[in-house]
Parts: sequence; C-alpha cells; structure tokens
Amino acid sequence: MKVSIIGGGGRVGSDAAYSLQLGGIVREIALLDANADMAAGEALDLRHGASLVGGQFFTSGDYGILEGSDCIVITAGLRRKPDESRLDLINRNVTLFKDILESVKGVKLKDSTTFCIVSNPVDILTQLTVQAGLVPEHQVLGLGTVLDTARFRSLIADHFHVNALDVKALILGEHGDSMVPIWSSATVGGVPMSSIPGWGSGTADEIFAATRTSGAEVIRQKGGAGRAVGISIKEVVEAIALDNGRVLPVSAMQKGALGVSGVCYSMPTVVGRLGASSIWEPSVTDAEKEGLHKSAQALKDTLAQIGA
Ligand code: 2OP
Repeated sequence: MKVSIIGGGGRVGSDAAYSLQLGGIVREIALLDANADMAAGEALDLRHGASLVGGQFFTSGDYGILEGSDCIVITAGLRRKPDESRLDLINRNVTLFKDILESVKGVKLKDSTTFCIVSNPVDILTQLTVQAGLVPEHQVLGLGTVLDTARFRSLIADHFHVNALDVKALILGEHGDSMVPIWSSATVGGVPMSSIPGWGSGTADEIFAATRTSGAEVIRQKGGAGRAVGISIKEVVEAIALDNGRVLPVSAMQKGALGVSGVCYSMPTVVGRLGASSIWEPSVTDAEKEGLHKSAQALKDTLAQIGA
C-alpha cells in the first residue's frame, strides 16, 4: 500500500512517516510539503534506514507523487498557540486546507483511495474533505480523538501504575475543547474504574483535565506534538492497509449514532480498506450523551460560521 503525507516535511508528518516505517506494514511512503527540501530530507533520512527496518520505498515531490496513493494523510497546517483552541485555527487553516484540496483535485486518485485528515481543527477539515467529494464519504477519516484516547489511556495507567496496554477507555466527540471522556465503559484489565482501589470522582476530573489539555501542554513544552500523534496516525493507516477490522474513535461523517448526524466527529468506528466500514453506537450515560450532543453542536456552529 502507498501512503502519501501532505505536510510530510513537518513535525507531525515526519513522525507519522517514521511510525509507519517502524510499523513495516505499508510499502511506499511519499512525502509532500510546502518546504520541498524538508520533505526530500525526511524521505532521504527515512530511506537510509530502510535496509534495517521495513524495507519500504520513500519518495518526495510535488502533488504528482500523490498518483496511485491508497491513503492520503494530510498533516499540513499552522499550529495553534498554547492558549488557542483548535477551533481558533479555523480562519488560518481553512483557506490553506481548501487550497490543498484544490491541488489534490488535479491528481488521478484510485477508486479506493482513502483520506486520513490530521490538520486542525480536524473534525471541521474532515468535513470539508467529505464535502469536496474527491472520494465517497466513508473513505474520508479524521484522526479525531484517536490521539486523545491514547493520551487518556496512558494517563489513567500512570495514575494506577499499570501497563497502559491494559487500559481500555474512550474519548469521543470533538478533537478539541468539547471532547467527552466515556468513563462509564472504562476498564483496566477488564476491571471497571469504580472497582479499582483509590478511584474517586476527583481522580476522574484530574485525569480528564490532564488529557484535555495535553495538546496545549506539549505545545508549551516542546512546540508541538509529534510522537504520539505519529503513532496514532499509524494505527489508523495500518488498519486501512490491513483491513483488520480495528474499532477506532476516528472522526467520520455521522449517520445517526446517539441521534447525531451531518457532522464529522469521533465515534467507535470499524476501520477497513475503504475507511469507515461502520459506526457503532456506544452505550453511554445521559451525561455523556449530553456532552456528545454539545460537542456536535459546537462543530455545527463552527461549520455555520465558515459557511460550510
Ligand atoms: C494535539 O492534540 C496536534 O491536535 C493535536 O496535539
């Protein structure tokens, strides 16, 4: 499978490329960036390691290299400042993103080409990609709360000093300020949170607050996320490549789960070779459902603001 990364010369795009190299699943990784030298340098650096891991092919160039892509990842865009929300980026990144989509329109895509949108505000830009009509809407995914869910699970594991791989917990809704922690189904090793010694509502608030502000904290400390977001992108892209039925909280056009439709945000989604195979309605509390409805409304209000 060929994966092309628009923004591949940047921090997020190059970390995604490196994660895909270490994953060893995809066959070719093409990097495209406004800074062509950075894209070429990242491709060269990655290519040098191909004899030791993955054995993949790495290329770089202009939009022509997108030809034949099975998955197009878009990480390009301006980064927010620590005190900005992802939705605050709307005025800066929408114009840039629409220009990118226009350039992609000039490329011959496969009928099966999928998109994985990462640029922020990711749910809004995922919806713009759906509306662009480049591919059927189920073939457009956004990274959504896959990264937030990864952070959430790791922070829960830190609190209990357990292996993060044994924590199953979901963040759903907007990849942004209105994201919703689904505590009602969270478990560690199959044990519900409420049964774990040392658990309490104060713990829940503390862990979710840390999760929700993780992006801003990483920006404050190192200028922006790269490692965990790169691994999160790898999870989605490899689920597409392997058609392995992963159920991931990606952003996709909603069709009525929990009463929400007509907006892209994160719900448990079966991911396959053609993107979103199906969206599953999770069992949530009334409060969690209310939070998800507020999240959907915040996104719809932003879409109205930009006339989308
Ligand atoms: C984050 O949360 C980049 O939005 C991404 O770090």
